[in-house]
Amino acid sequence: MIILGIETSCDDTGIAVIDINNTSITILSNIVHTQTIHNMYGGVFPAKAKEEHKKKINAVYEEAYEQAGRPKIDAIALTVGPGLEPSLWVGITFAEELSKKLGVKIIPVNHMEGHLLSSLLPEYELNKKINFREMPEHAISLLVSGGHTQLVFIDGIGKYKIFGNTLDDAIGEAFDKVARMLDLPYPGGPAISKLAEEARSNNLRAKDFAFPRPMLHSGDYDFSFSGLKTSILYHLRDNPIKNKEDKMIVAREFEDAAIEVIIKKTVRAVLETGSTHVMLGGGVAANKHLQNELDRVAKENNFTVYHPVRQITGDNALMIAIAGYFHQDFEHPLKANGKLKL
Ligand code: KG4
Ligand code: ZN
Repeated sequence: MIILGIETSCDDTGIAVIDINNTSITILSNIVHTQTIHNMYGGVFPAKAKEEHKKKINAVYEEAYEQAGRPKIDAIALTVGPGLEPSLWVGITFAEELSKKLGVKIIPVNHMEGHLLSSLLPEYELNKKINFREMPEHAISLLVSGGHTQLVFIDGIGKYKIFGNTLDDAIGEAFDKVARMLDLPYPGGPAISKLAEEARSNNLRAKDFAFPRPMLHSGDYDFSFSGLKTSILYHLRDNPIKNKEDKMIVAREFEDAAIEVIIKKTVRAVLETGSTHVMLGGGVAANKHLQNELDRVAKENNFTVYHPVRQITGDNALMIAIAGYFHQDFEHPLKANGKLKL
């Protein structure tokens, strides 16, 4: 089945074309245009994001469709939320026109289900038939992005129970805000994690301060990062950065604190639900420290981690097309018992 995916929920305009069945996928194209206009604001500006999507979506579509070899499309998978409403509408309007033109239906997709299923793809190569990883019976999905921090219990495809959520800032947003305090460019995640890695490889850490681990012992699965962010703000007010070493240490201490909370809550959710796997997804899944810590605790606690390939940690239409396929509303062999068996 050939599916064309469309993603415009935030600041990435994405279109992908895939040839997919229950066990494998061939990526025919996957184009993402990331808007850079927001860099000067240090965050995404919704009205500007909408304008940029409108400017770019036709060209992104043309490029993706052309690269795919202009195949006959069987269905359109479209992100319908969550996301910035003005941005989402650009994708919706575009999809409606395209669906009329091609005479195919639209499969509405939840953006987070895209991130959630993205780690089923074990490798990334265009025009190659790739077998999916086996869908676990019970898994915990750790979704870490600029808009979300969620722990989701997966009891089969489409059967999701949200265990925990952020009560304020998402983890990616916290990375972005702390980056701004440190005069680092937007998006801040990659910049902070680079400095933190440098600090680790040089054995640099704080000697006389420590940042809090918010809600570590709250007894539930929720997260909060605004207290951590505020404590960094106060720390920087009282201890202005004097050199690169200071910056590296703050970046490391922040990353250590934020990731420790996420890892500990994830392990607890795995043990409590008897899950065998953690499926990682979202932009922050690109973070090396998070990946290493997750692998370390997986070994200790005997579970398996599915990491998403780097090309689809951030927002993209490929994961939307995949989620669209597995979540079609017409009769689907995998939906008989509500479980995805690969
Ligand atoms: O999933 P995504 O592309 O967009 C949303 O749906 O929000 O996630 C973007 C977020 C940004 O906050 C960015 O700073 C963060 O992912 N990010 C990282 C890294 N790469 C991207 N955060 C930490 N470490 C990274 N290496
Ligand atoms: Zn996302």
